[in-house]
Amino acid sequence: MRKLFVTGGAGFIGVNFVRYWRKHHPEDFIINFDALTYAGCRESQAELEDQDRYHFVQGNICDEALLHEIFTGVYESLPKPDLMVHFAAETHVDRSIRDSSPFVKTNVLGTQVLLEVALRYGKIRFHHVSTDEVFGSLGPEDAPFTESTPYAPRSPYAASKAASDHLVRSYYETYGLPVTISNCSNNYGSYQFPEKLLPFAITNVLREKKVPLYGTGQNIREWLHVEDHCRALELILLKGEIGETYCIGAEEYSNVEVIRALLSLMGKDESWIEYVSDRPGHDWRYALDCSKIRAELSWSPLIPFEQGLADTLRWYQDHENWWKEKIV
Ligand SMILES: NC(=O)c1ccc[n+]([C@@H]2O[C@H](COP(=O)([O-])OP(=O)(O)OC[C@H]3O[C@@H](n4cnc5c(N)ncnc54)[C@H](O)[C@@H]3O)[C@@H](O)[C@H]2O)c1
Repeated sequence: MRKLFVTGGAGFIGVNFVRYWRKHHPEDFIINFDALTYAGCRESQAELEDQDRYHFVQGNICDEALLHEIFTGVYESLPKPDLMVHFAAETHVDRSIRDSSPFVKTNVLGTQVLLEVALRYGKIRFHHVSTDEVFGSLGPEDAPFTESTPYAPRSPYAASKAASDHLVRSYYETYGLPVTISNCSNNYGSYQFPEKLLPFAITNVLREKKVPLYGTGQNIREWLHVEDHCRALELILLKGEIGETYCIGAEEYSNVEVIRALLSLMGKDESWIEYVSDRPGHDWRYALDCSKIRAELSWSPLIPFEQGLADTLRWYQDHENWWKEKIV
C-alpha cells in the first residue's frame, strides 16, 4: 500500500487526480491536504469522506508544525506518507498581476517547506506539478518548448512556479531528494473554478451573458483534458526517472477557436464574444514537445478535444449548484 500525500487535492486538477488514483489504485491511502482557499472545494470529494484509506486535512503548505505532525505519524493516527504529489498553488494569472504576494508565499515558500519536510522524513518521493508558462512565450513559427528550454517566465504566477521548479531541482542535485517535475499545458474538464477561460465562458453563456475575450483572442495554448494529465502523472509517479522533468501537452488551439467551438456546441453565434482590452504581458503562444514522455513512458493524450469539450460542457450544465456558489 502506497501512502500518498496530495497537496491541493480540493482544487481542479487535484480533485480529478484524487478521484483518478482512487479508481485505479484503491489499495493506496490518500491524505488530501488543502488550505481550502477560494479555489478549493472539499465538497467536490464528499463521497470519499466516509471511505477507508482516505483522509482530508485542511491545512496550509506553509504550516511546518502541522506538516511535521503528519509526517511523524502523530496527527490523528494517519499513516506516515511515502509519496508527495504537489498540486497546491495560487494559479490565476490575473490575480497574480493584481497581487503577487500570495503567489510567492504559497508557490515558492510553501514548496520549500514541503521539500524540507520530504527531506527530513526519509527522503520522500516528491512529484512537483508545474506549468508550461515557466518557459515564457513563443512566436507563431517557433519550435515548441522542451524539457531543456531555458526558463523565461513573464507573469508573477509563472515566475513563482519557475522559482518552485528551481527549488525542487536543487533539492535533487544538492540533497539527492527523489524528485520528478512535470510541466503541463492548459487543462480543461470538470471541477475547474469558474474564473478560468473555459468554465468562465460556459457559465457566462449558461447565465445568458457574453464571453469576454482578451485582445484579439488569437493567443494559442495547448488544451489537455484533465484526465489525460492525471494518467501522465500516474505514469511519472510509477515509472518516471528520478531527477527528470516531463513536458505534458496536447493539441494547439487559439482562445477564440476554443470559444467558437464552445459557442457552436451551445447553439450560439460569434456575437456572444465580447473582445476586451488585453491582459498586460499576455503570452502569445505556448506549445510543448512531448516526445520524451511519449517515448519513455508511452503516454499520449486519449481524449480528443471535441469530445472533451462536449463532456466538460455537459458537466457544467449538470452541476449548476457546484459553480453557482463560486461566482461572485
Ligand atoms: N489548471 C491548469 O491548466 C494547469 C496547467 C499546468 C499546471 N498547473 C498546475 O497544477 C496545479 C493545480 O492547478 P489547479 O488548476 O488545480 O489549481 P486550482 O487553483 O484549481 O487549485 C489549487 C488548490 O490549491 C489549494 N491551495 C492554495 N494555496 C494553498 C496553500 N498555501 N496550502 C494548501 N493548499 C493550498 C487551493 O485551496 C486549491 O484547492 C498548480 O500547481 C498549477 O500551477 C495547472
